[in-house]
Amino acid sequence: MKKSDVIQRYIPTKTPLPKEHVEVFAPSNIALCKYWGKRDKELNLPINASLSISLGQLGSRTSLQPIDAAEDQVLLNDLSVDNSQSFAAKIIAYLDLFRTADSPRIRVETNNNIPTAAGLASSASGFAALIKAIDQLYGYALEPQVMSAFARMGSGSASRSLFDGFVQWHMGVREDGMDSYAELLPAQWPEFRLGLLTLTEAEKAVGSRAGMQRTLETAHLYQSWPLQAAADLEKLRSAIDDRDFHRLGQTAEQNALSMHATMIASWPPLLYWQPESVATMQQIWQLRESGIDLYFTMDAGPNIKLLFTADQQQAVEQAFPEVQVIAPFANA
Ligand code: DP6
Repeated sequence: MKKSDVIQRYIPTKTPLPKEHVEVFAPSNIALCKYWGKRDKELNLPINASLSISLGQLGSRTSLQPIDAAEDQVLLNDLSVDNSQSFAAKIIAYLDLFRTADSPRIRVETNNNIPTAAGLASSASGFAALIKAIDQLYGYALEPQVMSAFARMGSGSASRSLFDGFVQWHMGVREDGMDSYAELLPAQWPEFRLGLLTLTEAEKAVGSRAGMQRTLETAHLYQSWPLQAAADLEKLRSAIDDRDFHRLGQTAEQNALSMHATMIASWPPLLYWQPESVATMQQIWQLRESGIDLYFTMDAGPNIKLLFTADQQQAVEQAFPEVQVIAPFANA
């Protein structure tokens, strides 16, 4: 099924006149139970459900403004991006899903305050901000679940960036994917902390989109992933309900390493780790042995995201002086 066929069922045939200017923000998110593998590449429908924590003030701020011009204009972090570049091309193709050809062209300005080198996907907050802005620009007033499903069509993980705090993305079973959306889990956990470590700024060779496809097609080990992910998701849900940090940390770390095991078992092999990644994992395990409650997660890149609670913050900052600490519930 095509994205446009699904979307058209939710918006008027004639594109409404756009507002003069809209501006929105969406947070970045880090998965504690990872999304890895698609059952539908066109709609970004996942093989497993996933669960994430949003990063509060870290994310994408996007404004949209109709312009009297023949082409859309795209700016990233105050710099103009040529429409032929993939960043702009993706945004324009996405905008086109929500408007007709006779509707005015748009100036899209996006500013990310995410340390991009820390391996945080800006596509998640970027597409979440974009769908929120599109919804406001044309006054569509889409339901949160529909908006999340539409964000997912831009990038899977963007479905989760529509909400703050803990978020679950349901895998869904429908062919049109409209039951594959993310939802807020109402739990507050003010002591919860994330630590971003930028270990290396080396560009990753294979992005998540191509990486997950390769894993699916070539790694026998991948067969066990959906089961592992389903079990981990339940454990995380109960750990959040019980505010059991050990269970949460253990489950998230094992989930990330299991995902990486499937990547390594692909052909050609996908090893996102650098020597610094391995050294940091060993350091974390040593710190844990010495009684510091510290766990980690990793995505499709070499950098490590630390998981801990406020009472361990001092010890964590001492061990990793360069760490950027995030309190996801700070404004709750
Ligand atoms: C490892 O959402 O970037 O970060 O749907 O192809 O855009 P596309 O992929 P994307 O993949 C994220 C993969 C991950 C795990 C996660 O965030 O759940």
